[in-house]
Amino acid sequence: MDEYIEKAKEHFGNILKEQLERVERMKSGDDWIDYKSLKPIIIGVVGGDGIGPMICEHAHRILEFLLRDEVENGKIEFRVIEGLTIDNRARVMKSIPDDVLEEIKNCHVILKGPTTTPKKGDPWPNIESANVSMRKHLDLFANIRPVKVPEKNIDWMFFRENTEGAYVLGSQGVNVTDDLAVDFKVITTQGSDRIIRLAFDYAKKNNINRVTVVTKANVIKTTDGKFLQIAEDVAKEYPGIEWDDWFIDIMTAKLIDPARASQFRVVVMPNLYGDILTDEAAQLQGGVGTAGGANIGKRYAMFEAIHGSAPRMVEEGRAQYADPSSIIKAGSMLLNHIGYIEQSRRLDMALEICGQYEMKFRVTGRSDGATGEEYARYIMDTLQDPDLESKWQSYQGEK
Ligand code: IPM
Ligand code: MG
Repeated sequence: MDEYIEKAKEHFGNILKEQLERVERMKSGDDWIDYKSLKPIIIGVVGGDGIGPMICEHAHRILEFLLRDEVENGKIEFRVIEGLTIDNRARVMKSIPDDVLEEIKNCHVILKGPTTTPKKGDPWPNIESANVSMRKHLDLFANIRPVKVPEKNIDWMFFRENTEGAYVLGSQGVNVTDDLAVDFKVITTQGSDRIIRLAFDYAKKNNINRVTVVTKANVIKTTDGKFLQIAEDVAKEYPGIEWDDWFIDIMTAKLIDPARASQFRVVVMPNLYGDILTDEAAQLQGGVGTAGGANIGKRYAMFEAIHGSAPRMVEEGRAQYADPSSIIKAGSMLLNHIGYIEQSRRLDMALEICGQYEMKFRVTGRSDGATGEEYARYIMDTLQDPDLESKWQSYQGEK
């Protein structure tokens, strides 16, 4: 038995060393990149697996249209990056093959389709999720996901911590013996501070006077307790903003409580709770196919669909019916992030008109609905409509 314990202790020791080094790196952290000073801003387009390449191509085309002048004058460059597929990753036994990672690191921002995450029992080796790995490699600490349901007055912005929590060592747990499995959860002062601060800054910039912090600090006392404590400290620096804290279980209930739902505005939480809560929230908006997500760090940023690669749709020959809305929404967040606020706003208006108001075409994921291509064309046509703004305004009036 001692032998097992020694082995596990050694493993734990290595983990602690890595994590303490990460803390040091965060302490000496970089400044935020300034996109204005870059020429070109390089946008990498990474298709991923399953329905990914198809929906990504639709989003790519829309972004190229919106940024056509900037591409022309050399301010923006698009690069399509191949190779982040499960076959390739399984072949080299890496969550992101080295050459792909290098190409990604030569870009400034990434638009990424979903990638297949192998789990035990799949035909693939059980390698780490490419998503989780990219978030770690590029230090994309903030996962920001907006959800809007206008008719219910819901306008939420979720800030999910993206580089720590239950995820950071998700593939480094130990089977101490055949009977005892242990995973690790990590929360650091620096990691919590930066995401909580980003949420409060966002609230302040957007005149939102409430931030909600979600943990399970009554049970997971050490790590979640730390996150909550840091929230309390950071909140003191934002006296104009009220804050409240909820536990994840009751929060999932309150999100669908009509008396409460619209009161939440900005929500910040550790990684796994953010994963769960944002899927629930996206479902209220019309499904995970409709919500996009931003993964932001100081040097890099990556924008993605929040759903999976839908291998079943591909197997059943339905890939062309996949909804591109989520990745197009991610594209709009990308535009906003690199400073093309007006283009992003127009794309958001088009997405809302097509997806929530006018709904001339619907994507159902099956042949009774529009194909992704038809739907993307619908969005593009709406975007080019000279009356876009007034059309959107009139729908706003009706809600
Ligand atoms: C998400 C996804 C990923 C996650 C998976 C694919 C690893 O569910 O982006 O929310 O859990 O973070
Ligand atoms: Mg998720």
